[in-house]
Amino acid sequence: MNLLFIGDIVGKGGRNAVKRLVPELRREFNCQFCIANAENIAGGGGANAKCLKEIYPNAVDVVTMGDHTWDQKEFQHEIEGLPFVLRPANFSFRQPGRGYGVFRNPGGGDVAVIDLAGRIFMRDGSNCPFDAADKILEDIPKNVKCRIVDFHAEATSEKAAMAYYLDGRVTAVIGTHTHVQTSDAKILPGGTAFISDAGMVGAEFSVLGRKVEDVLFKFLSGMPGRLAVKETDIRLDGVVISYDIPTGKATAIQAVSRMVPHAD
Ligand SMILES: [Fe+2]
Ligand SMILES: [Fe+2]
Repeated sequence: MNLLFIGDIVGKGGRNAVKRLVPELRREFNCQFCIANAENIAGGGGANAKCLKEIYPNAVDVVTMGDHTWDQKEFQHEIEGLPFVLRPANFSFRQPGRGYGVFRNPGGGDVAVIDLAGRIFMRDGSNCPFDAADKILEDIPKNVKCRIVDFHAEATSEKAAMAYYLDGRVTAVIGTHTHVQTSDAKILPGGTAFISDAGMVGAEFSVLGRKVEDVLFKFLSGMPGRLAVKETDIRLDGVVISYDIPTGKATAIQAVSRMVPHAD
């Protein structure tokens, strides 16, 4: 069984690229199920129901979030009405939304998706992601063997540590948040697929999806300012995870990237 995971979708360009490329990728890699991180889908920061419904259910089955979860002020009132959306499970239980869920894979079986946020070089307020993972794995029904973790974190050390901590207990630990796809995709000894970062769906010639000149001005001047999202030259990054249905063990992980064709 194959499953597609897409890195942070950035803005309108990212949404359009997902709509255009994900159905093709699903066919090419025979993926019946797709998870995407959408913490930057609305104007580059946060999400809202309107933007998410552009990609769900036609391209993506489950959406994960991250440190930008609440950037769009309406989203805290919308998330409970969006059962396909997860926010990091180790955020306070006082926050709306949920951090994990079990979803039906049209290709067969169920998929548990768990969203966690890192704490190293990230904004304060998250509880321990390792403890949260332990508790969630106790709660998930034992017969749900396919378990996919989006670990939304900055530090590669924290992401690798989480992957080894969960090795043999989940199908995959997929890093998100840095917007740069890493070249360390591998299957760990216990059968868990891992990559430090899946990458993003955003402009190839940009700084993490933002216009180069805006980011440079901020670095050079030290002044606050708007970092506009670049909406052209969009590249889509993700990974294809293959797993064994009866055990949930990963058998392969492959990083993929596609450019939106220029005519679009
Ligand atoms: Fe992001
Ligand atoms: Fe992030």
